[in-house]
Amino acid sequence: MNITKQNFEDKILFYGRRRGRKLSTSAKLAISTGQKYIIKKDNFLNIFHEHKNIILEIGFGDGENLVNSAKNNSNFFYIGADPFVNTTAKCLSKLLKFNLKNVVIWPDDIRKILYLFPQNSISEIKILFPDPWPKKKHINRRLIQNDFLEKIHSIIKHKGTLTIATDHDLLKKWILEKFQRYTEFEWIVESSKDWRFRPHDCFQTKYEIKSIIQLRKPCWFTFKKK
Ligand SMILES: C[S@@+](CC[C@H](N)C(=O)[O-])C[C@H]1O[C@@H](n2cnc3c(N)ncnc32)[C@H](O)[C@@H]1O
Repeated sequence: MNITKQNFEDKILFYGRRRGRKLSTSAKLAISTGQKYIIKKDNFLNIFHEHKNIILEIGFGDGENLVNSAKNNSNFFYIGADPFVNTTAKCLSKLLKFNLKNVVIWPDDIRKILYLFPQNSISEIKILFPDPWPKKKHINRRLIQNDFLEKIHSIIKHKGTLTIATDHDLLKKWILEKFQRYTEFEWIVESSKDWRFRPHDCFQTKYEIKSIIQLRKPCWFTFKKK
């Protein structure tokens, strides 16, 4: 599948929320002072010339995993994407607070820039608690779709990994079925410990805490590119 700007980005419709409550003064300040973290399409490719170990987080939410990962692994470079303005402001204020130098963010739908990533350029991808879109009529809104997997597969390095967390039973089933059919990835699993517990390189996020409080069972599925 030859994915170009024309046939991929232009057809994208984002169904999630872009904005929540009115932004506080500190959130507005984080957005204006945090502009240095925002990806500019024009020099996006420089990232791949300058860094060899790149981790992409799709849907970083409040940024707990993205910021803690970047703080603790200065030898990795992180790209985060999330279109929700309110949480992007929270993430930016954390990046500014710790003055992190190994992160950039795309404050929009990741699918709008996937065509810009060079093939085999990303070491790991994390998608933690993506929106489940549980209603049958909204199934097409789920992020994990065949064409998305195909694109993700092309940008991950050989033997690179993709970790997806979810606490939603329908989405667990949906993910496992998708990967059973898309055999270019191998599910890294030997025992239930491999999916019942958060991997050592992921940090606890707001949605993991929510799932524990609401007595749901979060799962982390890690797939390796063959
Ligand atoms: C349920 S929240 C989870 C947030 C965070 N990962 C956590 O675990 O707390 C899902 C997040 O994914 C983001 N999201 C949804 N579709 C996306 C897309 N196409 N590209 C990037 N982010 C997306 C949403 O804006 C939202 O912040």
